[in-house]
Amino acid sequence: MARILGIETSCDETAAAVIEDGRTILSNVVLSQIPVHRLYGGVVPELASREHLRGIVPVVRQALEQAQLALVQVDAVAVTHGPGLAGALLVGITYAKALTGAAGKPLIGVNHLEGHLHAVLLEERRQGRSDPALPAIALVVSGGHTQLYRVERSGEQYRYRTLGQTRDDAAGEAYDKVAKLLGLGYPGGPLLDKLSAHGTAEAARFGRIRLKGNPLDFSFSGIKTAVLRQVQTLGLEAEIAARRQAVAKLDHPPSADEWRALCSPATLDLIASFQAAVVTDLVERTMAAVDQVAEAGDPAASLWLTGGVAANRALREKLGEAGKGLGLPVSFPAPSLCTDNAAMIAAAAYPRWQRQEWADASLAAFAQLALS
Ligand code: KG4
Ligand code: ZN
Repeated sequence: MARILGIETSCDETAAAVIEDGRTILSNVVLSQIPVHRLYGGVVPELASREHLRGIVPVVRQALEQAQLALVQVDAVAVTHGPGLAGALLVGITYAKALTGAAGKPLIGVNHLEGHLHAVLLEERRQGRSDPALPAIALVVSGGHTQLYRVERSGEQYRYRTLGQTRDDAAGEAYDKVAKLLGLGYPGGPLLDKLSAHGTAEAARFGRIRLKGNPLDFSFSGIKTAVLRQVQTLGLEAEIAARRQAVAKLDHPPSADEWRALCSPATLDLIASFQAAVVTDLVERTMAAVDQVAEAGDPAASLWLTGGVAANRALREKLGEAGKGLGLPVSFPAPSLCTDNAAMIAAAAYPRWQRQEWADASLAAFAQLALS
């Protein structure tokens, strides 16, 4: 039996979790910094590092307490070492080194994106289902990344081939930027997801996102500009200014219903249209990836969806339908395992534990760490 303590500090969540044998969640603690970054409408790297420093000790302590374990009873400590904000990553890495040094336990370095992918496996296993068949086509879609991978496995080793990725903004980043320009809160994804249910997606049509070169690449910077153009065409500037003022007067972050009451039907339609355009693009390129590997004689056996934007209801529904149409099983984690957490880091460390692939004291933070 292997109990792995996972630590995640790559962006704006300080998280720790204990996972047994890559399948059973003994604890999963996430301390969100959203209230700190909300004031700035995005993650401020220096503040993120400071908040991780404040949060790391109590969060790890809580994860051990909830798992009813002392540090000496865990078998290894796994920590995200990239990609992410360098200063934020360093807090987790330094603390993980201190813990493993003090307790004489092995240290395992985990790629954050591999963590998101293993959240899919963790979900299937904790539901008592068998692992999805491989090779898989996996869409990792978050605030920092939009990547299409082919996932395979030889023995206990998983391998990842990048099929496509965003050339500019990540999908989650587009959600956050569009929310900001519409005078809505941070992070934008969960709120725009909720508000889009109250608008008509056909009202404001966005053209298909066209790209030269790799058809499996993404680009979301243009859609943000298209939303801005719609704001001007529809004359929504005064409404946005009024919304910002109304929210500034509140003594609490507005609820989804309060936000909705501050949005005109035209704004709700614009949000619904934006979401439909993003979801359509994500689903179509994922289907194109399925076609591409099939044409190469290497058909996918399952579809995976993960990362913060995978919490999106429309995306889960549409990708689920598309997979069903092709007779491909689609797997995605519960929303709490889609957004950043340490359970996925401890789960991704399990195959490395099996191979005894330890990191040493030289483990460093890599802001641009690639996955292969
Ligand atoms: O995976 P994550 O927690 O952090 C990164 O690794 O980036 O993803 C956070 C991103 C944010 O951009 C947030 O707006 C987006 O995921 N997000 C959503 C939803 N929930 C979170 N985007 C669309 N719909 C959602 N329901
Ligand atoms: Zn993430």
